[in-house]
Amino acid sequence: MIMSGASFKKGALARPLDGEVDLQGHRGARGRRPENTIPAFRYCIDQGMTTIELDTNVTKDDQLIVCHDTMLNGSICRDERGNAAPPIPIGDLTVAELKLYDCGSVMNPAFPEQVPVPGTSMPTLPEAFAFAKNYESGRELARPMRFNIETKFARDCTAKDIERSARLVVAAIVDAGMAERATVQSFVLPVLPIVKRLDSRICRSALFESSFIQRSGNEIILAAREAEAGIISPHVNAVTSAFVEQCHAAGFRVLVWTVNEEVDMLRLFAWGVDGIISDYPDRLARAYSQRKTDFIETSL
Ligand code: G3P
Ligand code: CA
Repeated sequence: MIMSGASFKKGALARPLDGEVDLQGHRGARGRRPENTIPAFRYCIDQGMTTIELDTNVTKDDQLIVCHDTMLNGSICRDERGNAAPPIPIGDLTVAELKLYDCGSVMNPAFPEQVPVPGTSMPTLPEAFAFAKNYESGRELARPMRFNIETKFARDCTAKDIERSARLVVAAIVDAGMAERATVQSFVLPVLPIVKRLDSRICRSALFESSFIQRSGNEIILAAREAEAGIISPHVNAVTSAFVEQCHAAGFRVLVWTVNEEVDMLRLFAWGVDGIISDYPDRLARAYSQRKTDFIETSL
């Protein structure tokens, strides 16, 4: 159910910290196209999102592949014979080997509106940047696309793995000239201060699982501060208006994941969140314009 404009009272809308809302397509547009692929990024841009959210893993040959799972995922990727990809760690494969898998043919059953794009392989991070730069140049965007780049790690990752990933992601961002429009995000918070040390122009976002609801707002803020992040990125189920206010008072922006229902998006906009990450960029764009209408109507 979508909340109507009349649901907001005059002055009910809180404001984001710097007055702007960041609209992010999760894994590009997982609800509409195969996740973390160029077709998903195209859809994300076409729907007027401001940021592409994506995931990266380090490959055997020290490159960054855009992929959520730390192992090949047989439920969404197929080998050259059309069989489910075997569960091999991404870090044991080179980019050339990973490119052999088709990750666009099989619709993710959790997202029945996802349109398959057969023959789509995982892009590298530089390929994702190159695509967006080229695609946006032919369009009149309000501002260049931004990237919210998650660094994924295996459960048994070491400090060396974290340092290696940070170095590779910063190098890829800087080489593409994207330092001013990139955020590095992670649940593995120690990666964030390393990113800052390597290039302080790159924003940093501290991710928190929904279980953080058991931790106090103060603990979350302390953890984000220690990680030298400017953004706190909580699971939607753990967000309250008081928490948003508390983060803002401490100087943190709040970027909520993964929000797929328009009623939830409207509630979060009213609470003044700084950004929303959604599998459905079309729904997020619609809710955002509804929110603007509400604001105008209720401000009269
Ligand atoms: O950006 C936050 C969100 O992407 C984290 O969850 O598991 O989809 O990467 P996940
Ligand atoms: Ca992610």
